[in-house]
Amino acid sequence: MYKKGMLIFAVIMTLSGCGKPKDSVEGKIEKLLSQMTLQEKIGQMNQLTGLGLAEDMQNQIKSGKVGSILNETDAKTINELQRIAVKESRLGIPLIFGRDVIHGFKTIFPIPLGQAASWNPQIAENGARIAALEASSVGIRWTFAPMVDISRDPRWGRIAESCGEDPYLTSIMGAAMVKGFQGNKLSDATSIASCAKHFAGYGASESGKDYNTTWIPELQLRDVYLPSFKAAADAGAASFMCSFNDINGVPSSGNELLNQQILRKEWKFDGVLVSDWASIEQMITHGVCSNLKDAAQKALKAGVDMDMMGFAYTGNLNELVKSGAVSEKQIDASVRNILRLKFRLGLFDNPYVKESETSPFYTVDALAKAKQAAVEGSVLLKNTNNVLPISSDIKSVAVIGPLSDSPTDQLGTWIFDGDASHSVTPLAAIRSTFGNQVKIIAEKGLTYSRDNNSEGISKAVSAARQADVVLYFAGEEAILSGEAHCRADISMPGKQTELLAALKQTGKPVVTIIMAGRPLTIEKEVEMSDAVLYAFHGGTMAGPALADLLFGKAVPSGKLPVTFPRMVGQIPIYYAHKMTGRPAKDAVMMNDIPVGAGQTSLGNTSYHLDAGDKPLFPFGFGLSYSTFQYSPVKISSNEISKNESFTVECNITNTGKYEAAEVAQFYIRDLVATLARPVRELKGFQKISLKPGESKAVKFEISSNELGFWHQDNTYSAEPGEFQAWISKDSQSGDPKTFSLK
Ligand code: NOJ
Repeated sequence: MYKKGMLIFAVIMTLSGCGKPKDSVEGKIEKLLSQMTLQEKIGQMNQLTGLGLAEDMQNQIKSGKVGSILNETDAKTINELQRIAVKESRLGIPLIFGRDVIHGFKTIFPIPLGQAASWNPQIAENGARIAALEASSVGIRWTFAPMVDISRDPRWGRIAESCGEDPYLTSIMGAAMVKGFQGNKLSDATSIASCAKHFAGYGASESGKDYNTTWIPELQLRDVYLPSFKAAADAGAASFMCSFNDINGVPSSGNELLNQQILRKEWKFDGVLVSDWASIEQMITHGVCSNLKDAAQKALKAGVDMDMMGFAYTGNLNELVKSGAVSEKQIDASVRNILRLKFRLGLFDNPYVKESETSPFYTVDALAKAKQAAVEGSVLLKNTNNVLPISSDIKSVAVIGPLSDSPTDQLGTWIFDGDASHSVTPLAAIRSTFGNQVKIIAEKGLTYSRDNNSEGISKAVSAARQADVVLYFAGEEAILSGEAHCRADISMPGKQTELLAALKQTGKPVVTIIMAGRPLTIEKEVEMSDAVLYAFHGGTMAGPALADLLFGKAVPSGKLPVTFPRMVGQIPIYYAHKMTGRPAKDAVMMNDIPVGAGQTSLGNTSYHLDAGDKPLFPFGFGLSYSTFQYSPVKISSNEISKNESFTVECNITNTGKYEAAEVAQFYIRDLVATLARPVRELKGFQKISLKPGESKAVKFEISSNELGFWHQDNTYSAEPGEFQAWISKDSQSGDPKTFSLK
């Protein structure tokens, strides 16, 4: 048994690191830390953007003033900078090289929102793995991904980088990305450290304008915005990044509740917390710090380990320690996290990258996986008279539209390293794969998505007249989404709607394929089209994927990861909304109100006179070439006890003619609780493949704890009472089964 004195001794030993076995990572960290000067410690906390082999950079590395470099992508340069760190700096601590490898390094996968539309975590894991293989081959060992910000505002340009609106779907896809980036173990030379970002609440930026303020009550933060980060941490994410926004008035880079209380204390996260680009410094602009020194002190107190391009730490921590304003212990805590990451990555043992002779880029496997991701990440929104897939009787197709042959735009946002000359566009793919089956008449009509010049429209129309079916590739150029690329009007840009109207006039069946970085308000366009396939920005292999889908070599199986509004005024719009005291009932549309109606009641329920209460397409929606029948839901017991698991299941039958995949979605609703709860919450999903006529059972196991939510006193628990459960094809359909929690 411990005596009091022994206990104190053990605590001191542990805190000082003396208690760690010398050859354990923690032991090695402590040994190194004990040899470091304050200046060298501060150096580890400094991340600079690459300047190649510039003399100034070399000198800073030599004198131990840099811990990490981002945006260096040349293997030779990386090795040389690393050599300077390892051989010429006093302690030989290796650098870690970071880069935004978001949805591919060279081989570009669909934007994360498109990957999320696959509802297949294997797709996300594959994408991250290929990205890691390619990026690590030049010496990049840290990516600033996945972005697991819950995004309920399609005006926000960064929705493209997200997995959409739902905490559960984002958690699953984000964790899969972490797994893909980091591989089986971080020390493997092909593994790259992931970074869950942006911690936290960034997706809630007011009016969908980047960097804007957020107001998020703590229980909503914990219920909606944090679970995907927790899931990333549980999946082993090696690092986190602060967000740019202030949250309830406190910028994330100085936010002790988020970074100390939640991330470190509650979640026990021992990885690196890096600021966003100059986000420590920007606390001055936010108006919560008077100068860089103040900002450095706040960020350190909040537990931000590394300053990305902010110069707050390098310029001020020394003086702050000397003056006693911050303690060296606080600095040690951050340096430990940074050294731990470097040890975990194996950088001390293998600091250099092998400069490979054979290109690891755009391999057959990578391209095949990227294509599969684009196939599964495309969502069929409409298919009147089964115009799709294009029947073998069709003799000619017109390929029209600004996105039909735009190698750069199909890659989407956050493409630093992907080479558009490797993109296979829809036009190229249709030509090469189906060129001997149908005659292809190509006419773009508009040269780019924002093109306001209607001159090309008549040529496009005459191309359409000569064809049996029109394939119209519309949407957004890549530049219209991404960081700081937000839109207040998310309708189809330029003259694309006019072009569609002209194509429709020809009387030919029109299939509209939309390639975009966000949900667009496309009600008119959907009405005018016989079929609509929403492809997001599908990456390098978007063309072959779309060609296969259009011609029936593949069957659509994507489902929307985010609600599509009819019009901007409905935003924020998401499926997991509350019931309100007056839920919408018999919405009266503005045009149906009799003239002179005066102050007549229009029902006094919750809806917009011009938009009603429904989205254009709900979360989870997506059609197939086949059809599926869901049997009634069965629950293992109608009365669940606390701390018990139970199962919810049903049979799904493929009632159509195509072998196809279906995403069965499992939702619950807490009918009566102490706080109003969402009308539905996703708790599970399964993507299953079925042959025509085949049936399969889908079964979800859930613990009663997962029925819980956060309460005003910051505790999480499930409340006894009545619940409903659905297994359905989207967030609006299906028949619920009621059960109770005792
Ligand atoms: C700013 C972005 O917000 C962040 O996501 C990115 O990782 C950094 N810049 C580095 O490029």
